[in-house]
Amino acid sequence: MIHDPTPDHDENDEAKDSEVADGTDTLRHRRIRSFVTRAGRVSTGQRRALDEFGPRFVVPFAPQPLDWDAAFGRSAPRVLEIGFGMGTTTAEIASARQADDFLGVEVHEPGVGALLKLIGKQGLTNIRVVQHDAVEVLEQMIAANSLDGVHIYFPDPWHKARHHKRRLVQPKFVALLVSRLKPGGYIHLATDWQNYAEQMLEVLSAEPALENTAGTSYAPRPDYRPVTKFERRGLKLGHGVWDLVFKRC
Ligand SMILES: C[S@@+](CC[C@H](N)C(=O)[O-])C[C@H]1O[C@@H](n2cnc3c(N)ncnc32)[C@H](O)[C@@H]1O
Repeated sequence: MIHDPTPDHDENDEAKDSEVADGTDTLRHRRIRSFVTRAGRVSTGQRRALDEFGPRFVVPFAPQPLDWDAAFGRSAPRVLEIGFGMGTTTAEIASARQADDFLGVEVHEPGVGALLKLIGKQGLTNIRVVQHDAVEVLEQMIAANSLDGVHIYFPDPWHKARHHKRRLVQPKFVALLVSRLKPGGYIHLATDWQNYAEQMLEVLSAEPALENTAGTSYAPRPDYRPVTKFERRGLKLGHGVWDLVFKRC
C-alpha cells in the first residue's frame, strides 16, 4: 500500500466490528461501514479553521435533501466528493474549476479542519463540507438525479480478503450513486491498489446504467485530478494508479 495509511490493522477485529456498527446502533440494524471511527488529534490550526470557517462552510448532516443553491448562494454544476481525507485534492480541483460547486463528505474531523484551513487560505467559495458517513448523506441529503459528478479518490482499500466487505465500491453502493446522478453525470474513481481497481472496474462495468468512457478499461488521469504526493512517491517506486471514469446513460 503506497497511499494514506488505512485502518486495516489487525488487532481486535471483533471490537472494531462493533465500533463501526451503525450509529443508530441496535443489534437488529447494523451496517458494515467503510471506515472506523478514529479519535484523531485535531491540530491547533485545524481547530481554529473549524471555529472560524465551520459556520460558513460546514453543512450539518440532516435527514432531508440539501438545497444546493441555498448552501452555495448560486446555481452551478454539483459534484460530490466522498472521503476527501485532508482535502488537498479537493481544494486544488475546486480552485481550478471555479464554475462548479463541490460538496465534500468526510468522517474524520482533522481532515475537515485541514480542508477548512485550505478554504480559508485560498479564499475558496465553491466548497461545502459534511462531516458524516457518505452512505447516509447520499441516501438522505442528495436528491435523485441531482449530481453532475462524483469523485472518490483512493478510498480505503481494506487489503485483507475478510475486510473486503468494508470496501465502499460495491454493487449496492454504486446503484445508490447512480440514482443520485443526472443522466450524463460522471463517476470518477482512483486507486493505487490493483485488486481494488479490478473490483471497481468489475462493479462499475456490471451496472447497466453506466457507460465506461474508456471502452472496457481504465481511463487516463483527467487533467483536473492532481497527482498527490503519496501517488508521486508510489509512482517513483514503480507502483500503479488506476483512474476510472464512467457516465450515467
Ligand atoms: C485512504 S483515505 C483517502 C483520502 C483522500 N481521498 C486522498 O486521496 O488522499 C480515505 C478517506 O475516506 C474516508 N471515508 C471512508 N469511508 C467514508 C464514508 N463512508 N463516509 C465519509 N468518509 C469516508 C476516510 O475517513 C478517509 O479519510
